[in-house]
Amino acid sequence: MAKDKRVEKVNFTDWTPFGPQILVGDIPKKVYKEYEKIILSVLEKKEERHDYKLAGRIDDEWTIGNNVLYQTQTEEFLEQAVIKYCNNVTNRMLVKNQQFAGNSEWLADNANLHDFQVRRVGGWVNSMKRMEYNPLHHHPYCNITSIFFFSDLDEKFFDDIIAPSSNRNSDGQQVINTSTTDDGSLEIVYGSNNYWQTGSVRVRPKKGMFLIFPGDLLHCVYPFDSKKRRISASFNFQVHSNSGLNFGDR
Ligand SMILES: [Fe+2]
Repeated sequence: MAKDKRVEKVNFTDWTPFGPQILVGDIPKKVYKEYEKIILSVLEKKEERHDYKLAGRIDDEWTIGNNVLYQTQTEEFLEQAVIKYCNNVTNRMLVKNQQFAGNSEWLADNANLHDFQVRRVGGWVNSMKRMEYNPLHHHPYCNITSIFFFSDLDEKFFDDIIAPSSNRNSDGQQVINTSTTDDGSLEIVYGSNNYWQTGSVRVRPKKGMFLIFPGDLLHCVYPFDSKKRRISASFNFQVHSNSGLNFGDR
């Protein structure tokens, strides 16, 4: 089977809530099964701690070694998803953003001619438990990072909301709404909420959902109250391109 046919098509959205672009997608079903197995086995074996490299207040953070990904569909999927992101960003920068430029046609013709070399420079799994959190941080030593979710933070996930007595409606009654809480959500911060623009956005984790975005984009995870674990994996990449665009290549 041809290499590029091994991974099913990825459903994705190019999300541009502010300056930097974010790719939001669903891990293809076949890949998800294998990927989840890899993640759960890393969590079970607990071979290499990753917490000393990270900002999170999380006990269970473990390195995903290259050996467990070697020649798997998951490894192939990771590279394809990052290349997809690079192509989409290049397209935005050279076609959409430059549509009114004098050389717009030339730029559009050249937008698909670029090569990207993707190098994975780190990977880990987070198994967050009740009251743990990940403070605002970015990922250094890479130009692209990613997050993959292996938990559904639906209303069944939560046992309670954080500080329930502080949640009251205008009549002073306590309101506990686990279906709309931001507890356990990921917040991505680009800047302050200036006039007519959004500075930060929140993402509620869903099984199989993933995000790819620049490594310097700040993000954090809020604490939550649940007996269940909030499991996610992240990989950092160093991508080089011949596009001449500023991707933070080193
Ligand atoms: Fe992070």
